Amino acid sequence: MAVKNAAEKELIDEILKLKKERNAVIMAHYYQPAEIQDIADHIGDSLAMARIAATLSEPVVVVCGVHFMAETTKILCPEKTVLEPDPEAGCSLADSCPAAEFEAFIKAHPGHTVISYVNTSAAVKALTDIVVTSGNALKIVKALPEDEKIIFGPDRNLGSYINSLTGREMVLWDGACHVHERFSVEKAAELKRQHPGAKILVHPECTGPMRAIADVTGSTAVLLDYARESDEKEFIVATESGILHQMRLSCPDKTFIAVPPHDSTCGCNECSFMKLNTLRKLRDALRDMSPRTEVDAATAQRARRPIERMLSMS
Ligand code: 13P
Ligand code: SF4
Repeated sequence: MAVKNAAEKELIDEILKLKKERNAVIMAHYYQPAEIQDIADHIGDSLAMARIAATLSEPVVVVCGVHFMAETTKILCPEKTVLEPDPEAGCSLADSCPAAEFEAFIKAHPGHTVISYVNTSAAVKALTDIVVTSGNALKIVKALPEDEKIIFGPDRNLGSYINSLTGREMVLWDGACHVHERFSVEKAAELKRQHPGAKILVHPECTGPMRAIADVTGSTAVLLDYARESDEKEFIVATESGILHQMRLSCPDKTFIAVPPHDSTCGCNECSFMKLNTLRKLRDALRDMSPRTEVDAATAQRARRPIERMLSMS
């Protein structure tokens, strides 16, 4: 756990007190700021967050991640109060797939099963047959009959990764994440030259050339588990740098090196949306019981089915 200053300790005490009073639970994604990861009751990748949401007993859930994660929680737990510390925490990948345009895309490809990555709006999920995350997409696609025609959206990188592993020709929506497309393959290769024994860990939202030099490609949870279980001591990591916090906590004797972006001298690559959440905003959300995540009932009803299908298939 990171060293806390007095103001941070005070905020943490307030959060813990409010959490008890509200009978609330705090969920956080691995890309959250370290101090939020440290205070969360549950921390995980998108799949773990959805699985946990489906089983929670507390009436109030604070989702520290981005908006689609809070929406997924609200869809799975409509009776609960779902709070998101900063509702401006969006996702460039989800934004790359507006529902009206996706609907037209589906209409242009009749007879296709629609698979959507969890990084989508509730409205896109409502148009979907099966939701997937980076942690189960390959397994779910493989489970479908080989001749089943599939539309996969919105991430073209995850989609082409699955196409390459399965030999399928899923029709891909042309979307991407601005963070994962920024990693520099040249800088990663240079790090590998400097640390020849290091394993390269890559999220499947990265581009093909980045995945081509990976030793392991997988969701944040897969990369973290690999680092924990591996006998190797050094890892070069190409996913949002928040994950390094859990990697370093879990494996204090190992070295994790972030792959820098290609267009900046900064050493690591952060998702500005994920980093909008702060301890202060988390405290305010519990104190004010706001901002609340709402999904209109008709959309939520249609979006729930493909999420539940995912949970039952993974
Ligand atoms: P994971 O499900 O692998 O945690 O990924 C979520 C995400 O937003 C990746 O950018
Ligand atoms: Fe969305 Fe990319 Fe941020 Fe993940 S890292 S939440 S895909 S913008």
